[in-house]
Amino acid sequence: MTDVRGKTLVGRFSHAPVRGAVETWTEALVAIDHDGLLVECVQRTDPRFDQMLAEAESRGSLVRTPSTSWILPGFVDLHIHAPQYPQLGSALDLPLEQWLDHYTFPLEARFADVEYAEAVYSTLVADLLAAGTTTALMFATIHQEATRALVDSSLDRGLRALVGKVAADDEQQCPDFYRDASVAAALDGTEALIDYVRSHRKNQEKLVLPVVTPRFVPSCTDETLSGLAALAARYDTHVQTHCSESDWAESYVQQRTGYRDAEYLDTLGLLTPKTVLAHSVFLSETDMDLVGSRSSGIAHCPLSNAYFANAVFPLRAALRKGLHVGLGTDISGGPSLSMRDAMTMTVTASRMLDRGVDPALSPEERGRSGAAEDWRTAFHLATAAGGEVLDLKVGAFVPGYAFDAQLIDTAAEGGTIRMFADTASSDASLAKILYNATPANISEVWVAGRSVAGRDPGPADGTRA
Ligand code: GUN
Ligand code: FE
Repeated sequence: MTDVRGKTLVGRFSHAPVRGAVETWTEALVAIDHDGLLVECVQRTDPRFDQMLAEAESRGSLVRTPSTSWILPGFVDLHIHAPQYPQLGSALDLPLEQWLDHYTFPLEARFADVEYAEAVYSTLVADLLAAGTTTALMFATIHQEATRALVDSSLDRGLRALVGKVAADDEQQCPDFYRDASVAAALDGTEALIDYVRSHRKNQEKLVLPVVTPRFVPSCTDETLSGLAALAARYDTHVQTHCSESDWAESYVQQRTGYRDAEYLDTLGLLTPKTVLAHSVFLSETDMDLVGSRSSGIAHCPLSNAYFANAVFPLRAALRKGLHVGLGTDISGGPSLSMRDAMTMTVTASRMLDRGVDPALSPEERGRSGAAEDWRTAFHLATAAGGEVLDLKVGAFVPGYAFDAQLIDTAAEGGTIRMFADTASSDASLAKILYNATPANISEVWVAGRSVAGRDPGPADGTRA
């Protein structure tokens, strides 16, 4: 494993800085500074290439990558429930409101036990990195100590993480065994986390950021919701919550408040440019305009939506309105930790919305034409767009951006990408990588230029440069 701070990497790079297009540099040099920021990208066709390569080599700062490998941006996962990792891939047989009561609140309540929290969180963070996720926006639980353990695990393993102590104090929707004891407990706990993260001695580079985290409107009293908005404003933090996720959640909010979900969050001051709304499947046109006017972001979680929303988020419509959308796994509402699965499902779900799903209907009646998106857009959403939603310079190979990246080796032993001579075009190969790669193919992962996961890729094969 090789840190690349202060080094120059040579290899094949692909990214999707702009929606709808991908860019591949078959052979390029990427220079990284001592803070892990990308300084310069120079392609083989650039007249400076040979000299830069020779200079880096003579300084001993050149890092070669195997000719069978591709360097991609790390994934940005915009929606994770870290304490739900133990039930990932199970417990999805109930609708959202019953799932919370029956499985999820009891599981999250266990995080009163800090040792349990440490064990789960350190495994989760390692597994996220090994799967190529380099930035993670995460809900923890209501517990202060356990939430600090998630911050610590992220810092120890080098994950770029945005972490929130969940606020949930409403007696109607939160059980006695898993509820903030009071408005003050919800607000003080949130403020304490902000302080913990910002003053953490291992967090000088601000790799971890605190997030104000009302679970969703049904979990929180009005007083807590407005207090949280005030904290987010005072400390200029990110905000994360769920919005318009299911029919039940929609109608519950409407009945309690008289407002639609997005409107209500806005009246409280919770729709800011640093807000990320998970799901948002049932946003109306007006809701979308409102979310857009506040420059808030959306975490599209297509796998989870198949279980809890029972509908497909109209991604294309949201993007046409200029909304900031990225992707999330929604661990464990979606049954996979992999952002690759989130990308695949993004394409699949959009195609099903486009063409429809009920074979009893005629093809003309079956779908919502114009909804389909392709893998290029999914790749953009999983990387650069996620960075834009969070207002972080990550997700693309651009000077000034953090070097958060994954090295995919198409020839890795145990890997699942099969390259034959007839799939040599860079776009086709990249599509195959994005659809077929598994962690065995991810030979190295970097966050801010630090090597944080992966097998030792071994000596470069020397065929490059
Ligand atoms: N709404 C409130 N809590 C949750 C949760 O944990 N997961 C999902 N998917 N939706 C929620
Ligand atoms: Fe969620």
